[in-house]
Amino acid sequence: MKFKIAVLPGDGIGPEVLDEGIKVLEAVGKRFGHSFELTRGLIGGVAIDAEGTALSDDTLEMCKTKDAVLFGAVGDPRYDDPQAKVHPEDGLLAIRKGLGLFANLRPVKLYPELVNATPLKPEIVKGTDFIVVRELTGGLYFGRPKRQWTTSKGRRAVDSMAYSEQEIERIVRVGFELARKRRKKLTSVDKANVLQSSRLWRQVTIEVSREYPDVQLDHMLVDTASMRFIQSPTSFDVVVTENTFGDILTDEASTLTGSMGMMPSASLAGIPREGQRVMGFYEPIHGSAPKRANQNLANPIATILSVAMMFRYSLALEKEAETIEAAVAETLKEGYRTYDILSEGCIKVGTREMGDVIASKIKKGI
Ligand code: IPM
Ligand code: MG
Repeated sequence: MKFKIAVLPGDGIGPEVLDEGIKVLEAVGKRFGHSFELTRGLIGGVAIDAEGTALSDDTLEMCKTKDAVLFGAVGDPRYDDPQAKVHPEDGLLAIRKGLGLFANLRPVKLYPELVNATPLKPEIVKGTDFIVVRELTGGLYFGRPKRQWTTSKGRRAVDSMAYSEQEIERIVRVGFELARKRRKKLTSVDKANVLQSSRLWRQVTIEVSREYPDVQLDHMLVDTASMRFIQSPTSFDVVVTENTFGDILTDEASTLTGSMGMMPSASLAGIPREGQRVMGFYEPIHGSAPKRANQNLANPIATILSVAMMFRYSLALEKEAETIEAAVAETLKEGYRTYDILSEGCIKVGTREMGDVIASKIKKGI
């Protein structure tokens, strides 16, 4: 089959890790007989430099005509000044909103070989395998009013955590659908003891749960969840939560996997259902790491696993997705490590070599 894919490398290590993702994509194409038409576009700091905006309308429109979007990272210290008019991160927020990517799936899986790469006790983290479903187009990130102004008593600023029942319903459904295909346990994380938006979240979640009697639903306050992630990570299966809570919790969760460089993500514009294709945007959860850029250092596994997620959700090719995941597992088993997950007795490799090893396993037929 032939697929159309947009490629947005972005800033810092983004282009390097995405090159390896594409290497793996091509390897899968060769092995399974698919071809890909790749269209490149600018986003983030490189787009500001070239076009004066972090995401141009043309790039957004181009992405809308594709089956999926592959993304590297955005962020550039030259634009870190909070007074700056444009920020590279604006491009990411604009594409999330522009493509309607409301469901952000972030798997948190610890490969057994990396159990010593985490700062936590092996007996606690061993077997960690859950997925966070983060709402991505609502809450504090997009709620109105959102502004800063000056009063007679000084400056003030406001952000709004706003949710409609429709927004809650569709994201919670994503959680239930995924739980159904996993261990059938859904934890909805909120702050219903304080926030109105969380009280609505909880009500709607309970209403939707009636359609999923086979899934066990729990509610957990976000402060408790942040503690339980570290105390007993293996007690989670699927976690669903609003935008900001999900942002914070998934950085925390990345420590369970050994490195940010191991965490892929999918941002979907619809509810994933078996055998159906949904438009999606695929990115590693790590940032642009400008200090590590252009040194062949960065771990490309998060990006490569994001490509696997693209096969699963946007191309509905489960076998291809599993082949990539198996190649990553095998590569780790054989001891290949980038600097961020390195431990004694392992084979230290750079970004490109890691991509080569994984791609060659796919071509050889793992
Ligand atoms: C993430 C990032 C982004 C977010 C930033 C770069 C805008 O932290 O994808 O988690 O806050 O959503
Ligand atoms: Mg984040």
